[in-house]
Amino acid sequence: MSAQYDQIGDKVANWDVLPVRSEYMEGYTLFKALGTVKGKSVLDVACGDGLYTRQFKERGATRVVGVDISEEMIRNARRQEEAQPLGLAYHVSDVADMPLLGAFDIVTAVYLLHYASSPEHMLRMCRNIHAQLKPGGSFVTYAFNPEFSAKGPNSTRYGITMLDFPEVPREGQTISAELHTKSPFTIHFSYWSRSTHEQALRAAGFHTLTWSRPECSPEGLTKYGHAFWRDYIDNPHAVALRCER
Ligand SMILES: C[S@@+](CC[C@H](N)C(=O)[O-])C[C@H]1O[C@@H](n2cnc3c(N)ncnc32)[C@H](O)[C@@H]1O
Repeated sequence: MSAQYDQIGDKVANWDVLPVRSEYMEGYTLFKALGTVKGKSVLDVACGDGLYTRQFKERGATRVVGVDISEEMIRNARRQEEAQPLGLAYHVSDVADMPLLGAFDIVTAVYLLHYASSPEHMLRMCRNIHAQLKPGGSFVTYAFNPEFSAKGPNSTRYGITMLDFPEVPREGQTISAELHTKSPFTIHFSYWSRSTHEQALRAAGFHTLTWSRPECSPEGLTKYGHAFWRDYIDNPHAVALRCER
C-alpha cells in the first residue's frame, strides 16, 4: 500500500491546497499538539515531499531530517531542498526498518500509522521511532481517526471523502479515501483501532498518550465561517496523538 505514493507523488502536492490540509485545520492541530520546535531537533517520518519538514526548519528547529518509504516523494523533497536550501537531509526507508539517524527531541509522523500492514508492522515502526528519541523526547503523530463514523458527516467540501466506510470496521480492513484535488485520486490504507495504536506505542516504550481531535484556528473560522467546519469537526477523518518517551 505504501508503494502507491511512487505513482501519485505529484498529485499529493495538490492535496496541500485542500481546506482540511490547510494551516487552519491540520497544521493548526498538529502544531498545537507539538508545541514549539524552536531550538529542537526533529525527525519527520513519512515526510512525503517535505511539507512539514520544511516548516519545522522555518519555525526554528535545529537539525531536521525527513524519512519516507517512497523514492518519488523523497525525490520531490530533495528537488525543493535544491531549489531553496534549508539544510534538510532526507532518507528513503520504511520507518519499520530505518537505521538509527540520531537522538532527536521530537519525532513527527503526519499520516503514517494507518499504513502499517499489520499490528507487528506498527510495533516495529513505533520501536524504531522510540529508538530515535532522546529520553524525555516526544512523538507527535497526525493520522486517520480510528473513531471516524460511517454514520457521521462525510462531506466532500473539505477535500477528502471516505469511500464505502464500513459501519463497524474490522482490524486491518482496507479503507479507501478520495482526494478531491484538481486531478482527484484515491488512497488505500488499513483500519487500526485506537487500542491497536495504543498497544503498539506502549509496547515500544511510550507513555502518556494524548489524543486530540482537530481544531480550527481563529483565522480559519474567520475565513470559512463556523458552519463550514461543523460537519468536519463532528466527524474528522484524522486526529493528533502525542506520546512521551
Ligand atoms: C499522505 S502522505 C503524507 C506526507 C507528509 N507527511 C505530509 O503530510 O505532507 C503519506 C506518506 O507516508 C509514506 N509512507 C507510508 N508508509 C510508510 C512507511 N512504512 N515508512 C515510511 N513512509 C511511509 C508515503 O510514502 C507517503 O509519502
